Amino acid sequence: MGLLLLFLIIWLYPSLRLKDSRAPFSPSINQSMEDFFKAYWQRPISLQGPAPTAFTEIEASFRPEACGSCHKQQYQDWRESLHSKAMGPGPWGQIIDLTRNSPEEAVLCMTCHAPLSEQIPVIAKITDGGKKTYAKNPDFDSKLQLQGITCAACHVRQHQRFGPPKVEGPDPNKYPSGTPNHGGVQRTPYFEKPEFCRDCHQFDPENTVLVNGKPIQDTYREWKNSPWGQAEAGCQGCHMPNRRHFWKGIHDAEWVKDGVRIEATIKRAALEAGGPLELVVEVTSSAVGHKFPTYLTPKVFVRAALLGGTGKTLPGTQQERTIGWDARFESGEWREYFDTRIPPGGKSRQTFRWTLRSQAKKIRAWVEVHPDHFYHVHFYPAYLRGENLSPEGRKLVKQALQDSGRTSYILFEKIIPLD
Ligand code: HEC
Ligand code: HEC
Ligand code: HEC
Ligand code: HEC
Ligand code: HEC
Repeated sequence: MGLLLLFLIIWLYPSLRLKDSRAPFSPSINQSMEDFFKAYWQRPISLQGPAPTAFTEIEASFRPEACGSCHKQQYQDWRESLHSKAMGPGPWGQIIDLTRNSPEEAVLCMTCHAPLSEQIPVIAKITDGGKKTYAKNPDFDSKLQLQGITCAACHVRQHQRFGPPKVEGPDPNKYPSGTPNHGGVQRTPYFEKPEFCRDCHQFDPENTVLVNGKPIQDTYREWKNSPWGQAEAGCQGCHMPNRRHFWKGIHDAEWVKDGVRIEATIKRAALEAGGPLELVVEVTSSAVGHKFPTYLTPKVFVRAALLGGTGKTLPGTQQERTIGWDARFESGEWREYFDTRIPPGGKSRQTFRWTLRSQAKKIRAWVEVHPDHFYHVHFYPAYLRGENLSPEGRKLVKQALQDSGRTSYILFEKIIPLD
């Protein structure tokens, strides 16, 4: 457990500083974008305080279902998204024990996974001597806590709604006349900017652990240096098309299929000249706005094997290459094994070779994606070897271990006859 805590602290602490969650602040849409986001994304997000007296109960609620009673489409999308599941058994199983043993770290996790102060059971207080202590949070809502990244986390500060400018043309969001409107909306184009997503999806490179020169979360910078970054085509354009609240990513096969192009071809010429059997598999990152994949958690396996007449794999002929970032925390430090992620617009070209066998009738080439590989293979098993886990925490993380083994899928498959 000591090692794991160390892992968490080393990973996260340097990139974040906890703030007193009751410090007053007020983002204003008239500020520069950087100043606005500095105030807007102070995490945990300050307690919202009492609702304006004119608000009906439903306007005063932070529960996503409440927002969804008027904003149906966004609610339906969000509920299917991973943002709504950000307090699933994996994070929650760890946070439940951290809250007891190390509230500072628990709060740190929740600054990204459940960032409203109303979602956090404790509240940080700075004593006169400058020391930090934690007190019980009277506004804590345990149901809201498990709803992850809620609508209010992205849209509400001090009960005031913030959102993007109205779209030109007919308004897709029509509300029946007389619908209460929570006192209107502060509209700002900053909602359309990739910097909106940066705080949770990018560690500050000046202030975090680097693994072979790279922060563990580097998505914004990868985007910034890509053709999409240069064209200022931000995250929302891909991940929130027409402002839909999908946020699909590596966990969704159809989504990933649209982002990459895969081709598998046999080099017939070499074969006809009596050489070895050669297969080339090319994975081109054609519409991914950052590295494919961006985090160290997924692995993409490019595989090929020879098949016999019955369609069965000939023993000993399966080969594999991996696309991904293999970095692990071992004996007190991060170690990089390899980084074969594909840069935006780039391609990975893998050649497989076999000496031809008479039984070989076909080649099978396929690409398999394991979105939660790092957690399933390295992190959860190590975590579960810890001794001081509570029965609830252990049960949840065991669940997460199982769930994380069920998310893999086949992204591409091709059977090529050899004659
Ligand atoms: C009782 C109905 C109702 C509830 C509940 C409600 N809204 Fe709204 N919302 C409205 C109406 C009406 C508008 C249009 C207001 C305007 O244009 O001034 C609106 C506008 C918005 C907008 C601007 C985008 C647009 O379509 O114009 C955002 C963002 C928003 N609401 C977020 C939220 C969030 C987040 C919650 C929950 C915390 C919430 N709303 C709860 C009725 C509601
Ligand atoms: C991770 C942050 C995030 C969460 C969570 C989130 N939104 Fe949004 N929302 C945005 C962003 C960013 C935009 C603007 C997207 C754009 O302009 O491309 C937006 C746009 C909107 C709009 C305007 C839509 C339009 O067509 O003009 C509404 C209404 C809205 N959100 C409501 C909600 C509701 C209700 C929820 C919860 C069910 C929610 N949002 C959850 C970030 C979020
Ligand atoms: C408050 C922090 C926060 C903000 C703001 C935020 N995200 Fe996330 N996002 C997360 C967390 C945490 C997860 C992982 C949830 C989980 O699986 O537990 C996530 C998951 C995702 C995923 C799914 C990844 C996958 O594995 O398939 C995508 C895509 C994504 N975010 C895109 C965005 C975009 C685009 C924005 C800006 C509009 C944004 N996020 C804003 C914290 C945030
Ligand atoms: C700076 C924001 C941030 C902080 C702080 C953070 N996470 Fe995450 N976390 C993310 C994002 C983004 C993802 C999705 C990307 C991925 O899969 O690696 C994620 C994914 C996860 C996942 C895998 C997805 C799932 O839902 O099972 C777990 C488990 C997790 N985080 C636990 C934690 C714990 C525990 C802490 C505190 C020690 C923590 N996180 C702190 C942003 C953060
Ligand atoms: C050109 C379209 C495009 C842009 C721009 C884009 N993405 Fe993605 N994103 C994708 C595709 C496609 C995937 C699925 C493949 C993958 O996982 O790399 C993805 C996957 C993800 C994931 C899943 C985790 C992972 O390991 O890959 C996250 C998180 C994410 N994007 C966040 C962002 C953020 C934050 C931005 C803006 C800084 C952004 N994306 C910009 C297309 C885009």
